Amino acid sequence: MDLYEYQARDLFEKYEVPVLAGIVADTPEDVRAAAEKIGGVVVVKAQVKVGGRGKAGGVKVAKNADEAFEAAQAILGLDIKGHEVKRVMVAQGAKIAREFYFSVLLDRANRSYLSLASVEGGMEIEQLAVEKPEALARIEVNPRTGIDAAKAREIAIAANFPEDLVDKVADVFVKLYNVYAGEDATLVEVNPLVLTEDGDIVALDGKVSIDENAEFRHPEHAELADSATTDPLELKAKESDLNYVKLDGEVGIIGNGAGLVMSTLDVVAYAGENFGGVKPANFLDIGGGASAEVMANGLDVILGDSQVKSVFVNVFGGITACDAVANGIVKALEILGDTATKPLVVRLDGNKVDEGRAILAAANHPLITIAGSMDEGAAKAAELASK
Ligand SMILES: Nc1ncnc2c1ncn2[C@@H]1O[C@H](COP(=O)(O)OP(=O)(O)OP(=O)(O)O)[C@@H](O)[C@H]1O
Ligand SMILES: [Mg+2]
Repeated sequence: MDLYEYQARDLFEKYEVPVLAGIVADTPEDVRAAAEKIGGVVVVKAQVKVGGRGKAGGVKVAKNADEAFEAAQAILGLDIKGHEVKRVMVAQGAKIAREFYFSVLLDRANRSYLSLASVEGGMEIEQLAVEKPEALARIEVNPRTGIDAAKAREIAIAANFPEDLVDKVADVFVKLYNVYAGEDATLVEVNPLVLTEDGDIVALDGKVSIDENAEFRHPEHAELADSATTDPLELKAKESDLNYVKLDGEVGIIGNGAGLVMSTLDVVAYAGENFGGVKPANFLDIGGGASAEVMANGLDVILGDSQVKSVFVNVFGGITACDAVANGIVKALEILGDTATKPLVVRLDGNKVDEGRAILAAANHPLITIAGSMDEGAAKAAELASK
């Protein structure tokens, strides 16, 4: 889960990372009040979960409360890369002498943590990494020992921080690592980390991603979730513990096993090309134990998607054999009753496939079509969706 900048700022504050005052507001009037409260120069910043806000006109300096009001009028409602700005943060203005970059992140490929740091922060770090890779220090961080004072100094020195700043930034690196470890984050990034004219190091921007697999350790993180921007179908799926991702298509997909579901998406997209370009509507992996209840919950979510015209159930029987899955489908349709209105193409294979198909044939449900193979099922589902 990605956090908003203001949420990252609040977490930073909790871990004593130096930040400036910041107040969230969602109307120009509230922005004016916030600017008055903070006093002096403020910066009005769009709160959207996407990078490059500054370049899109989402970050504006205001010398006083009236200018902040105008900045808010310009920024609220702005579309930044498809994200509508509904809230801004009014941040105390900093007198910036230099802009740096620091991040610590989960390095999946190396099964480790990685810290990136540069004295050339503030601009697009991706560009710097490509055009001037030597200006971006990459230091592996051992997850067992993390970033202690010595490691932080190593990072600062590798990134060419001036000698008189090494201890000062190292102290902030340690605190940012404490955010990363303490909150079970997969990313903590500060761009820019600034040196002010008064000689202080301050985090002016913050990006934090929280590992949702650790949510059992952090009941307080539930408050950070932002249901307004989460797809309502994904929310509903989450309530039933389903592995569901909404996509932009017409053929609902249910399968067991992430690999099978991924290839089902490909096969349906391919088959769809022959039927006016219909596409898969979602990813849904109902996992190994496809009970009737899980199947019913999955179907319920998919049928709730108004874009869906047909559903392709693609199951390879393993420990949960095809007969159990077939019974699950039949019972699920019973549970759903009249709410199930869209045609279902079912392809079963693997353990007890004959028994499974026999159960579906015996049920003789008007919505169910049995497919002999994955390709046949995908083509049938695509055809039904195109009608
Ligand atoms: N509180 C502040 N005081 C003074 N200047 C600021 C402040 N916050 C941001 N800035 C200036 O605005 C620039 C852009 O701000 P910020 O990094 O928050 O947004 P961004 O980088 O455009 O957005 P993103 O990080 O989402 O790509 C900074 O590099 C900094 O120069
Ligand atoms: Mg930034």
